[in-house]
Amino acid sequence: MGMLAVCAIALLPPSEYPPVPAARARASAAIARSKRTGMMSTVYTRSDYPQAQAFLEHVLSKIALLIQKYTMNIIAISGSLRKASLNTALLRALQPLAPSGMQIEIVAVGDLPLYSEDSEVSFPPAVQALKTKIEAADGIIIATPEYNRSIPGVLKNVIDWVSRPYGQNSFAGKPVLTAGVTVGKIGTAVAQSHLRQIMVYLNTDVIGQPELYLGPAGEIFDGEGNILNGSTKELLTKALAVLAGRAKKSN
Ligand SMILES: Cc1cc2nc3c(=O)[nH]c(=O)nc-3n(C[C@H](O)[C@H](O)[C@H](O)COP(=O)(O)O)c2cc1C
Repeated sequence: MGMLAVCAIALLPPSEYPPVPAARARASAAIARSKRTGMMSTVYTRSDYPQAQAFLEHVLSKIALLIQKYTMNIIAISGSLRKASLNTALLRALQPLAPSGMQIEIVAVGDLPLYSEDSEVSFPPAVQALKTKIEAADGIIIATPEYNRSIPGVLKNVIDWVSRPYGQNSFAGKPVLTAGVTVGKIGTAVAQSHLRQIMVYLNTDVIGQPELYLGPAGEIFDGEGNILNGSTKELLTKALAVLAGRAKKSN
């Protein structure tokens, strides 16, 4: 992470020339300021409109790249494909709780084929795309349901794909926050214990504390998937702050 300097530029279309006096005054002040601070400044006149527009597009694309560079990019995976999944709802609830500068992207994993070593000859495009995203990520969040006291096959399939081919495990070195919500009381503790074991084997930096074993779901969410109480929000916010700290360290 570092400092980010952003400048704002206003460009009036030719139809709106001449600019109102206030705009003219603001432009003159900005140019004077930029000269004082040694910043590069370019002055365009009415006849330079196409060049000015091209310059503005160039500056905006640079700003977009800078924002991307200084944003902590977290990839979130849900172990459930269910439309009304509690675990996907949990990932959605985490997004607005992310600390400043962190962006959480929930990735779709439903189009991944079932893993077979035969398919490694040519990786399916959906798998390759997921591997690329994970490699570029600053951290990972996995929200898993508990199925028969373990993780669902869907999630294991994702993990197996992303860990391959041998020696090119895309998870390696990434900080990983595990979470889970269930209709029952033990809040996916057993499933997450299995998940953590797998992710440790895959050489990730698994966050030990806080543990996000959430349940029963009726006490966590309202009907729309909003978190019901402040203490759960606090716990989730704390976990995201820990993930942010680990992500910074690994960069
Ligand atoms: C095949 C299957 C096995 C399950 N096993 C467990 C279990 O071991 N422990 C548990 O707490 N809930 C278990 N459940 C209930 C799930 O916690 C519940 O369906 C949950 O809503 C699934 O997560 P989702 O809403 O994200 O799809 C199981 C559900 C299914 C379909």
